[in-house]
Amino acid sequence: MAVTESAVAPVGGEPEGARTGHDDERAPARGECEGARSAQEGILRRQAARESAARTYARALPIVPVRARGLTIEGADGRRYLDCLSGAGTLALGHNHPVVLEAIRKVLDSGAPLHVLDLATPVKDAFTTELFRTLPPGLADRARVQFCGPAGTDAVEAAFKLVRAATGRTGMLAFTGAYHGMTAGALEASGGAGDVRVARLPYPQDYRCPFGVGGAQGAELAARWTESVLDDAKSGVPSPAGMILEPVQGEGGVIPAPDGWLRRMRAITAARSIPLIADEVQTGVGRTGRFWAVEHSGVVPDVMVLSKAIGGSLPLAVVVYRDDLDVWQPGAHAGTFRGNQLAMAAGTATLAYVRENGLAERAATLGARMIAHLRRLTGQFACVGDVRGRGLMIGIEMVNPEADLPAGATGPYPPAPSIATAVQRECLRRGLIVELGGRHAGVVRLLPPLTLTDEQAAAVLDRLTDAIASVAAATARGPGAVRHEAAVNPGRAPGG
Ligand SMILES: Cc1ncc(COP(=O)(O)O)c(C=O)c1O
Repeated sequence: MAVTESAVAPVGGEPEGARTGHDDERAPARGECEGARSAQEGILRRQAARESAARTYARALPIVPVRARGLTIEGADGRRYLDCLSGAGTLALGHNHPVVLEAIRKVLDSGAPLHVLDLATPVKDAFTTELFRTLPPGLADRARVQFCGPAGTDAVEAAFKLVRAATGRTGMLAFTGAYHGMTAGALEASGGAGDVRVARLPYPQDYRCPFGVGGAQGAELAARWTESVLDDAKSGVPSPAGMILEPVQGEGGVIPAPDGWLRRMRAITAARSIPLIADEVQTGVGRTGRFWAVEHSGVVPDVMVLSKAIGGSLPLAVVVYRDDLDVWQPGAHAGTFRGNQLAMAAGTATLAYVRENGLAERAATLGARMIAHLRRLTGQFACVGDVRGRGLMIGIEMVNPEADLPAGATGPYPPAPSIATAVQRECLRRGLIVELGGRHAGVVRLLPPLTLTDEQAAAVLDRLTDAIASVAAATARGPGAVRHEAAVNPGRAPGG
């Protein structure tokens, strides 16, 4: 049975066939439902027994996807869900978009080799042409691309290696709350390693401003701190090889960098000949309302790290940089799997579709509407501390309104990961898949496909609001109820 994406998938608590909206689909018999459910439970049981304790999403989302189309995922038990996790922000066009499937089929049917190391192929040539077409002017004209091992984290490593080779320096500047991946260098820059060559600088944010002021003043103080660390001979931070930043921190809790601050970072690094690396692994390909998130500020970075959506749902990662940084020796960043032809074809189709159909603009308008709608919840539910985002990268920070604040403080309340986990679970019960993130996994995140329709957006907001209302009611009944749920379904470490 094919998944035809009805405008809105039925609530996840109901088996498919109960409310599909397709008259030709027969409702499954009771025995069939039970069989499907027990097959799903068996798969989940075997996964828990055989896979690593480091597994992440699988813990909070006990579903077994077997079919998917657009926003909709169908589980082995026949239940359907609206997927606002989208492969951790990978699926710009949702699941199995026709243009992506067609591009993949075309390569498969052509007899072209699927494994080519880093040899030139027509498929790669077309991908590079389409990618360069989208790059910010100023970088596009002088860009070089290095195809990396197929994960964002490998492209981050490549970027570090590149700027170290180009500058002869070793240290890196990175920001509080950053997430750049799980390999050694990327983990250092993310604050997850002990022995580091990274100096950490404050990333501006309004809700939990490290300087206690927020807004333009908080961003200005953050910029000044950066400047003084670089110019103070006794700051303890030697002249670095590069600065890496996310234009919107994703895993860090959906925190958009103010445009003015980003321009300051560009000016500060340019004045000191420090290459600026924009990590657009999660923010790229229209997600934030511009094709690349740096375009909001007009900043042209020296290096861009790209992955997730550029492979059109298949693994692909590249680093793009200005030609004068291209000081690498042959083989300086090698790897067996750097020529994924299917991913390049799917990626070309995705980049072109987003560009031709104005999906970045669509993300900007629809995202702004959804954020405005969700902001109303902060007045309605005390556990909704903050709503923020850019385009279709949206975060709702859950807080504990019962916590004692320091004398004289009016907020913000401490993050409430157990409430966020409960909201995620209540969303799942209502047929909505959401992501958790943020420093304390207290932020409920929405990363829907850019193809989201108005009707689907309304359904997402309805289910999310309903889930929050039910958790808020449980919280009002006593923290024990929420704590119990969290113990049953613990949160996950950040990761893509
Ligand atoms: C901004 C950013 N950089 C890098 C990465 C790492 O990418 P990957 O998980 O493909 O290694 C992620 C993953 O979520 C990310 O969000």
